Amino acid sequence: MFKNLFKISHKTNTVPLLMTPGPVLVPDDIMEVFGRPIIHHRTEGFEIDLKYVLEKLPQVFKTKQQAFLHTSTGSGAMESAIVNTLSPDDTILTIVNGKFGERWTEMSKAFGLKVIEYNVEWGKSFEIQKVKDYFSKHPEIKAVACQACETSTGALNPIHELCTFVSQTQAITIVDAITALGATRLDMDAWNIDVVLGGSQKAFMLPTGLSMISFSEKAWRFIETSKLPKYYWDIRKEKKTNQKNQTYFSSPVSIIRALKTSLDIILEVGVDAFVERHELIAHAVREYGKDLGLEVFAQTPSPTITAFKLPPNINGEKVQFIMEHTHGITIGGGQEHLKGKIIRIGHMGAIERDHIMLTFEKLQNTLAELGHQKQNVNHNWNLIEKLKPLPKVKK
Ligand SMILES: Cc1ncc(COP(=O)(O)O)c(C=O)c1O
Repeated sequence: MFKNLFKISHKTNTVPLLMTPGPVLVPDDIMEVFGRPIIHHRTEGFEIDLKYVLEKLPQVFKTKQQAFLHTSTGSGAMESAIVNTLSPDDTILTIVNGKFGERWTEMSKAFGLKVIEYNVEWGKSFEIQKVKDYFSKHPEIKAVACQACETSTGALNPIHELCTFVSQTQAITIVDAITALGATRLDMDAWNIDVVLGGSQKAFMLPTGLSMISFSEKAWRFIETSKLPKYYWDIRKEKKTNQKNQTYFSSPVSIIRALKTSLDIILEVGVDAFVERHELIAHAVREYGKDLGLEVFAQTPSPTITAFKLPPNINGEKVQFIMEHTHGITIGGGQEHLKGKIIRIGHMGAIERDHIMLTFEKLQNTLAELGHQKQNVNHNWNLIEKLKPLPKVKK
């Protein structure tokens, strides 16, 4: 009945295909959950679903610890990580290799922490030796906050090396894995990561609005002594209420049930196989961009997002506009000094062969329209031949 109420792209008259770094395409099996009647969250019917989700979610983090849900966007989980573990005047090392790293700095300052910022050129990944140097100069560092994947540039950071080093110090690692969790190699327990957090609108294939977070044993010791003010984010209250298969505040019933479906899909594919799927897609996307004469922007690109540098005569904002309004495909652009200079293609979650083929066919047309005519483009579609549609979930 409501199908045509929202004509999102007024020119193509269709809902655009989301090839952005989030939000992402939500598969029909998940969308269908949002049409189900709402039940009260403090009932057995919902508690069964929440229990299921809380039992399965740690598998994606690869941890034996509990994973918690916050009714918030990913930034809420970032705030939760800070206020639950740290105390006023603690020193935090924030690693900034893009827009989201800057958020760690801003947030830490907002809570009165002493911030040491390690700035890395956008597009590059951080260097572990530099982190060691900061620790030599500042042995008082209590936490290191960084991104697993810096979404603004598509760069993947060396989290394993970082956490191996920091685990031998008094400090904890706080890893924003919003565009990494479920889609990149990230092993919370084996890599000694202390805090890992994610967001629903990325590899989980859900709309925006739910975030997830998990804490190591070492991080729990920090939680016990943390003195930063907290109320909404108080993870001790959440933990206690979760024991009754309830959330501390009202549960967002639909999105948690949608997460159940999402976990069913991810776990049926297999956590490792789901990551491999992203790696296969990312490799193909990089090759198809190169076929069009585009250079991959990140030094170590993530399996979740590919940023391409554009030729100087091509304006990225025009590329985005034509892609969306002529071809019905939304892609990401550059932020801050990269505005107009790069485009970012997100390929998390339910992306399939046809989506990639369509995106590159239309990208070629768009670039040609803007004067970047690459002759004899011959993409090797065999690279994504093995990509199977995601499994249907049993209802
Ligand atoms: C790496 C990273 N961190 C933080 C955020 C902020 O998340 P949200 O907009 O859901 O608050 C994003 C959003 O794209 C992100 O990609």
